[in-house]
Amino acid sequence: SRAIKQNTVTAEDVRSLLPLRAPDAHKGSCGRVGVIAGSQGMTGAAVLASTGALRSGAGLVTLGIAASLNPVLEVKLTEVMTCPWPENADGALGAKSVPYMDELAMQSDVTLIGPGLGRREETQTAIRQFIKEARRPLVIDADALTALSVDINILQQTEALAVLTPHPGEMAMLTGLTVEEISQDRLYVARQAAIDWASIVVLKGAGTVVAFPDGEVYLNSTGNPGMATGGTGDVLAGIIASFIAQGLSSHDAAVAGVYVHGLAGDIAADRGMIGMTAGDLAEAIPAAIHSLTK
Ligand code: APR
Ligand code: MG
Repeated sequence: SRAIKQNTVTAEDVRSLLPLRAPDAHKGSCGRVGVIAGSQGMTGAAVLASTGALRSGAGLVTLGIAASLNPVLEVKLTEVMTCPWPENADGALGAKSVPYMDELAMQSDVTLIGPGLGRREETQTAIRQFIKEARRPLVIDADALTALSVDINILQQTEALAVLTPHPGEMAMLTGLTVEEISQDRLYVARQAAIDWASIVVLKGAGTVVAFPDGEVYLNSTGNPGMATGGTGDVLAGIIASFIAQGLSSHDAAVAGVYVHGLAGDIAADRGMIGMTAGDLAEAIPAAIHSLTK
């Protein structure tokens, strides 16, 4: 790897970044997270992203979902509010949902978009339209990264500061590099992308890299291979969004979010690394935060 000054994040660092809960807190003061996620066959991604946000302390989490899927989410998610949005003929979000996305974003401190949204053309176009118009902080993951890869210049056009959370495959789509090229030089690739896109880039995998537009780079030390299971990335996106909603800068939320996510994975792995699920990781987030703040 080329010579890049990398910062290693310690528990002490993260402790000082984490949101404090004021004695007179109320749910409205603990942050509002908007989530745009899920489609037929992938409602779990919406559940995990929303749960990640709730379990890391967000006061209110609101999920926008294609209307036909709303009954499913009403049952799966107890504490999350859902907004059934107009959908296109095949039951997916499309052009008709964009005004609702804009409205949710205006009512939220941060909007997380992408997990399980799917790759239908109409959905992908709607995602691009939303990101272009966004003015408040964004966390962009999964299928919303796919949408961006068609036109990465949207990141220059939007007023919103975005945290992007690609795994190496998504990073390959965004950069045009191969996964092999990315794995050989993760720090450099993430750093260059953050500079080029004027965005915060969280390049996931064993040893997640967090890179900033000014060239600053962090390497994460928490986490384990038990986290290589479907949906753990959706939970991470929820944690980062939650920390932004609770008042952390997008910078601090990305650094602390990645650390807490890995720590929750390590706590979940105490009961067995093989067979732990993304849901187990999400349930371990409160203990992870508690161990840092007590
Ligand atoms: N060590 C530490 N952390 C790991 C390891 C490991 N060996 N393996 C995975 N992780 C962590 C990653 O750092 C990341 O935070 O688990 C998380 C996995 O996130 P994703 O790769 O996004 O996985 P997932 O949530 O299942 O999403 C996969 O969604 O992103 C879309 O199209 C993608 O269908 C795919 C699905
Ligand atoms: Mg993912």
